[in-house]
Amino acid sequence: MKVILPAVVICFSLIPACSAVLPLVINTWPFKDATAKAWSTLHSGGSVLDAVEKGCTQCEIQQCDGSVGYGGSPDETGETTLDAMIMNGDTMEVGAVGDLRRIKNAIGVARTVMERSKHTFLVGESASVFAENMGFSAEDLSTNQSRNIFSKWLNENCQPNFRQRVSPDPTKSCGPYKPSATLLEQRRRDQTIDIHGHDTIGMIVINQAGQVAAGTSTNGARHKVPGRVGDSPIAGAGAYADSTVGGAAATGDGDIMMRFLPSYLAVEQMRAGIDPSTACRTAITRIKKYFPGFFGAIVCANTTGSYGAACNKLPEFSKFPFMVFNKNSNGPIKETVDCI
Ligand SMILES: *[C@@H]1O[C@H](CO)[C@@H](O)[C@H](O)[C@H]1NC(C)=O
Ligand SMILES: *[C@@H]1O[C@H](CO)[C@@H](O)[C@H](O)[C@H]1NC(C)=O
Repeated sequence: MKVILPAVVICFSLIPACSAVLPLVINTWPFKDATAKAWSTLHSGGSVLDAVEKGCTQCEIQQCDGSVGYGGSPDETGETTLDAMIMNGDTMEVGAVGDLRRIKNAIGVARTVMERSKHTFLVGESASVFAENMGFSAEDLSTNQSRNIFSKWLNENCQPNFRQRVSPDPTKSCGPYKPSATLLEQRRRDQTIDIHGHDTIGMIVINQAGQVAAGTSTNGARHKVPGRVGDSPIAGAGAYADSTVGGAAATGDGDIMMRFLPSYLAVEQMRAGIDPSTACRTAITRIKKYFPGFFGAIVCANTTGSYGAACNKLPEFSKFPFMVFNKNSNGPIKETVDCI
């Protein structure tokens, strides 16, 4: 990591709030326009929350990797639904939406939940109605691309899907499904997982004053069972921010990752004095112990601007790319970490 040690040391000893490597924007995957947008938002006087919101919104507009925003990851009925969250590390306020329909700017709605209600997490159709009432426009989130993904899936007998122990045999057919006592032999998820269907944007922004915000936005898992909400909008799972420590943001197989609150775990590790890279690795190792074949990665940063990342090594996934923009960079820099 590019830390200029002498400068940092002098800086720390004289002025506690000063750092050679703040501000910092770090996000999952090589979504560089999102990084640049967050940076320019900070640069033009925006708060860390503004930066996270604008950065993730940029990905929603660009449909980053088809995994963020409208027109991606159609569910079993062909609809695209969105999950997002934002967290204020100063106040520990969180706003989140899950299974959001018809509204493109999911992280904008998440922030509106945080700032215009006393709630933390709204889901489904009701979240969409809330968003519409708050002035977000309702649009069809389907595109030719999502319609094509959906019809191809139907033509392939709805393979792969997330069903198990139901009839007819979900490894061969489309629904409607009913519970089955006979189909106990479940298809191994690891064999059919599409690692490109999980490229959530997770972002941490820390400003010069050490204020931390984090957020996520995703359209979830392709061909998910309607109603499925992943890890991204769950505080401590998809992302976590605490301005006394730092932040973390995760991406990957949310159905598994949410059980371990990896972002919370990484922040707690850093709180205990662990460096960001090791904190990230600890969060991945914890999941790996139970699910060696899970697909996932995490980025971590502390309030002095040190950062790291980690990912679970799979045959088809050995390096995880992420973006960094800090005081030492002239633009968004793509870095990669070797998976463990
Ligand atoms: C989507 O497909 C329809 C029908 O094939 C076509 O008329 C339309 O131009 C396409 N839209 C885009 C944005 O490609
Ligand atoms: C952040 O991590 C770096 C690298 O381990 C460490 O030197 C620094 O003291 C940490 N900052 C805080 C506030 O813990």
